[in-house]
Amino acid sequence: MRSAKDFFRPLAVGAPAPLREVPFRPSRMIHFFDPGNEKMAAKVPALVSEVDVLLGNLEDAVAADRKEAARAGLVKTARATDFGGTQLWTRINSLDSPWALDDLVTLVTEIGDRLDVVMVPKVEGPQDIHYVDRLLAQLEAKAALTRPILVHAILETAAGVTAVEEIAAASPRMQGISLGPADLAADRRMKTTRVGGGHPGYLVREDPGGRAPRATYQQDLWHYTLARMVDACAAHGILPYYGPFGDIQDTTACEDQFRNAFLLGCVGAWSLHPVQIGIARRVFSPAPQEVAWARRVIAAMGDGTGAVMIDGKMQDDATYKQCRVVAELADALAA
Ligand code: GLV
Ligand code: MG
Repeated sequence: MRSAKDFFRPLAVGAPAPLREVPFRPSRMIHFFDPGNEKMAAKVPALVSEVDVLLGNLEDAVAADRKEAARAGLVKTARATDFGGTQLWTRINSLDSPWALDDLVTLVTEIGDRLDVVMVPKVEGPQDIHYVDRLLAQLEAKAALTRPILVHAILETAAGVTAVEEIAAASPRMQGISLGPADLAADRRMKTTRVGGGHPGYLVREDPGGRAPRATYQQDLWHYTLARMVDACAAHGILPYYGPFGDIQDTTACEDQFRNAFLLGCVGAWSLHPVQIGIARRVFSPAPQEVAWARRVIAAMGDGTGAVMIDGKMQDDATYKQCRVVAELADALAA
């Protein structure tokens, strides 16, 4: 079987960008904007200090007759903005659309030096990542870029879910994977009509205990897929994300969805509206009391082996490792 490295072969001609060791960069909120919408694009400079990632969206939510304006708007905004430490990502159109090739050629040629990550929608298998990977290698070499552009896949087709491990391993460029609940729901023929979050009909009812009406509890529609995606990402050293939450007004449900994803292992989510930026920052940063507890366990565990009791709770090598995850994330976010 071919390994991911086989797909990152240097080009025969030109000087391909070397693959860097990807340093940790916060990406708690991937904030979407429509670069063809002048009002929205004008707000980008003010958002730079508010978010970890700004993403110029070219795909869904940009109408077919505005695709070129969005692409041109992204080039203009990227050139005019000082992003500082904030990452610039784009979501290109899907590989079966008439726009994806032009998206890649234009963006890498014009603003490849500013672009950190290309998000690829509707990924169905490793072949989609290989295609983008090889194209990027050519375009980077042509533009004499000195660092590679990374790739992020959206998991939003049933075929993609069944191939998620291979997608995660498809290239050393792979930065991460986001769950795309809206397209995934349609592709799976689920009976929802919303962008992410739960559904009041997807519930369990408490056992009958008497005459009073039985309480119902909404279940998480995305638990299985998210958990499967987190495993694939963790096994291949890339980052998992929850995607969009479309009910902008329901900040409580948004926070619940983001928190479930964080606790399961995700490092961030998309923000579709400024109100979701603060939610993502809060949820995807470990709480100070959790960090303090983690540091206490780490200190008590010495070299990380053996067992100790703290406040009546048994700690051992495995809790030490969990605590290091929390403490190291807090340190990385504070750096
Ligand atoms: C995101 O693209 C989704 O389909 O949920
Ligand atoms: Mg989608």
